[in-house]
Amino acid sequence: MPTDPHPEGDRLQKLLATAGYGSRRVCEELVAAGRVAVNGTVVELGARARPGVDDVTVDGVPVAFSGVLVYYLLHKPAGVVTTASDPQGRPTVVEIVPSDPRVFPVGRLDTATEGLLILTNDGELAHGLTHPSRGVDKTYLAEVEGVPSRAALRQLRMGVALDDGLTAPARVTVIAERPEGSALQITIHEGRNRQVRRMCETVGHPVRRLVRSAIGPLTDQRLTAGEWRDLTVAEVRDLYAAAGLARPAPVDPMAKRYGPDKRPASPARGARRQRQRDDAEQRRAEGLDIEPGSVGPGSVGPEAGE
Ligand code: URA
Repeated sequence: MPTDPHPEGDRLQKLLATAGYGSRRVCEELVAAGRVAVNGTVVELGARARPGVDDVTVDGVPVAFSGVLVYYLLHKPAGVVTTASDPQGRPTVVEIVPSDPRVFPVGRLDTATEGLLILTNDGELAHGLTHPSRGVDKTYLAEVEGVPSRAALRQLRMGVALDDGLTAPARVTVIAERPEGSALQITIHEGRNRQVRRMCETVGHPVRRLVRSAIGPLTDQRLTAGEWRDLTVAEVRDLYAAAGLARPAPVDPMAKRYGPDKRPASPARGARRQRQRDDAEQRRAEGLDIEPGSVGPGSVGPEAGE
């Protein structure tokens, strides 16, 4: 393993401490544990990097050195990929939000999945929200085929045996039941690949449509597909708390970034609203209609819906 790929840069423990990852001692331990990579290569203690030039990650999550932290909440439309760039040339989530400073998505939504996604350059928060040990809840509205039996619902709630192991208990509420399809609200705290789709498919009810309606305490019933907004300071603080992070959230990241009168507007709101209405009309015509955030996360519970 290379120890010093960029001798002209600063030592990683100093850079990480400045970026908010803890004391230099704590950051030394992160490096020594092999959790820090520079330009894709895991480095050893003593390695250096150049902020703004080298890509530094902790547990795969990019570290922001700019000192200016931004937080966006996007309602990801279906068909948009949750990566910074796509070899197949499909639209990406980072193309929807401002490009400076560079942000990255917190966790993943499948290309076909819609709903709430955070984009930020705050590596510490991203790491906290996605780390399996923190178990931040994510709530999804799933349109599934058929009507799940009591046994299928119980399996979803207790744990489903997937090829990568048993899933943790989930909260599941039945929102609508019709012979041609049902709507379920499912809350999980793991972040496995295509987890909700695989859980539903395994119990015999493949997902037709999947929408994420809440991330921990964060929800937004008014944001329509393709729209984004800045998180409020209170929302950032709540996310820090949900992720179990000791460091308080920045005081007013948006004011620092844009100034009080310079917040960028989410573009083409009117056109997106119209498209959203058209989509809803189409779903009503098909006999099923669930809207992101239409059921608040507070109403879910393991015993409800049976
Ligand atoms: N579960 C899925 O199946 N897909 C997602 O995008 C998120 C959770």
